[in-house]
Amino acid sequence: MRRKLVAGNWKMNMTAPEAEAAIESCVDLVSLKDNVDVILCPPFLTIPKVRELTKACPIGLGAQDVFWMPKGAFTGQISAPMLLASGCSYCIVGHSETRGRFGKLEVPAETLCYFGETDHTVHLKIGALVAHGIHPILCVGETQVERDAQMTDAVITTQLEIALTGHDPEELDELVVAYEPVWAIGTGNVCDTAEAERVCGMIRSILEDLVGQELAEKLRVLYGGSVKASNAKELFSQPNIDGGLVGGASLDPKEFAAVIAAA
Ligand code: 13P
Repeated sequence: MRRKLVAGNWKMNMTAPEAEAAIESCVDLVSLKDNVDVILCPPFLTIPKVRELTKACPIGLGAQDVFWMPKGAFTGQISAPMLLASGCSYCIVGHSETRGRFGKLEVPAETLCYFGETDHTVHLKIGALVAHGIHPILCVGETQVERDAQMTDAVITTQLEIALTGHDPEELDELVVAYEPVWAIGTGNVCDTAEAERVCGMIRSILEDLVGQELAEKLRVLYGGSVKASNAKELFSQPNIDGGLVGGASLDPKEFAAVIAAA
């Protein structure tokens, strides 16, 4: 039986002082729940504050990205050893926003190359994370155009195959995969529950091929994209949806607490 997992991705929100107020109510709630794992993924500079505030409770700490080299002349980058030293045990990789795949275009089109994550860099980042004992939260998902062209399954299969092929399955024993349809992110347009369950089930069967059946049964597959208190319970009660990767709703302490309660 897989434990439910709710991860809050704060994206580029929350200064350290803002985090203080946001975390209080969720710390109390998480201390009372022993059947759900909760992770917060703040921006890099807010990580130390969140670490301090969650010291006495079982909230896991995650980063939103990592660079694959351990150190060196890579201006502006953050390495896996740095995340480890900051207390992170999880890290998101391959988020659609780092891949430059926006549901709602939030940036000028000419700057999209700045968000240049590829399946290949995702592969390298996973290697760097597992080498340092940090659990990757691998995001996959199709854009609206790909969905309309009925390419959902093919896109996700390619993303998973390139990201995971070549890694030792034993090192992936705490991998988390998040199905995040790009068109559902930040749009309020949540994926239909039956379709989310179908895709998460497909992800699990692809994982069977890539890491073996026993491990695939154990790994958690999350849904992300406009998760909120009102839709979380139905989504999280599906057999192949082991919780959620939550963006906007994780910024509102009451709403996030209700999503955790739903899990
Ligand atoms: P929203 O919950 O704001 O749609 O964001 C989802 C997401 O991208 C989490 O990583």
